[in-house]
Amino acid sequence: MKKISLRPYNSFGVDAYAKDFVSVESEKEIVEFLEKNKSKSLLILGGGTNILFKKDVDYPVLKIDIKGIEIINEDDNEVLISVGAGENWNELVWWCIENDFGGIENLVSIPGNVGSAPIQNIGAYGKEISEVIENCRGVFRDNCSLKIFKNEECNFSYRSSIFKEDLKNKFIITNVTLRLTKKNHKINSEYYSLKNDLEENGIKNPTIKRIAQSVSNIRKEKLPDYEKIGNAGSFFKNPIIDKFKLKKIKSLYPDIISYNIGKSNYKIPAGWLIEKCGFKDIKQKKVSVYEKQALVIINLGDAKGIDIYAFSQKIKETVREKFDILLEEEVNII
Ligand code: EPU
Repeated sequence: MKKISLRPYNSFGVDAYAKDFVSVESEKEIVEFLEKNKSKSLLILGGGTNILFKKDVDYPVLKIDIKGIEIINEDDNEVLISVGAGENWNELVWWCIENDFGGIENLVSIPGNVGSAPIQNIGAYGKEISEVIENCRGVFRDNCSLKIFKNEECNFSYRSSIFKEDLKNKFIITNVTLRLTKKNHKINSEYYSLKNDLEENGIKNPTIKRIAQSVSNIRKEKLPDYEKIGNAGSFFKNPIIDKFKLKKIKSLYPDIISYNIGKSNYKIPAGWLIEKCGFKDIKQKKVSVYEKQALVIINLGDAKGIDIYAFSQKIKETVREKFDILLEEEVNII
């Protein structure tokens, strides 16, 4: 069987080979494929924007290319849209904005496909996709049965869901239904950088389109475009620490930023920790952190997956030594 290069299918732009590569455009094709390849290992691939290939994949890759955006119900206030897992997330956001459907405007410009978005509960600039998901439909790998997970069954949390935990590699999302607003949009402009951008531009009551434009500009300013510089967005999750640890760090670094997330727990920016460890100043040829956001690891040219992985582990070790905090990867490592 011919080996297939995965370079075009991962935003880090690393070269890895797959034993086989199959693209599927419907739920029926997924079921047919699963029935033929029952107990085999399998890699399910969406947009490839949150994955790092450390090595070749010696089993088949199943790329989900199910398309389609459909309004399935609406009244004067709300609309339910059903979207194929293989649709591009950012294109969907702009389609919603053009139709004046509100709820996902803060999530503009996030790379990747619709089917992957609920898995890691994508979030940015004060919103998470879990706030608008009505349900996620898909297929169980072991017996090909179909199931629709209602929002409350998806166990959403910060950058996680049942699909990333208990059902990891067990369930293939084929379709996502979103509940969006048609009027009285719930504008969320509280995230500090978004608020600043709107204030600087003298905008008091932004429309959803204006929110999307601002977020899109902020992201362009802070995050590298993977078409030009290989990366997979935030490499690590923002860690959560208790008040004692925060107090200890604050005594040494009074400028630390923290967000109380209930009880006496605080989320702190991993990018800040990484920057404080000096990684922005480390100049290397193949791999480094992005100069404007240390949480993003970038491929400077011809890095191999293993080079990127080794660098990420160095970051993890250094942060642990300096701050006694264990960072957890956000990117899927294969
Ligand atoms: N910071 C630094 N140095 C850095 C990076 C950040 O000091 O190198 C500080 C910033 O100054 C800021 C704070 O850390 O005060 C937070 O930075 P930012 O607003 O960029 O957000 P973040 O917490 O680093 C998270 C998400 C991003 C998302 C932004 C905006 C995670 C792991 N990352 O980053 O998501 O775009 O918030 O909402 O939660 C992604 O998941 O790929 C991603 C880019």
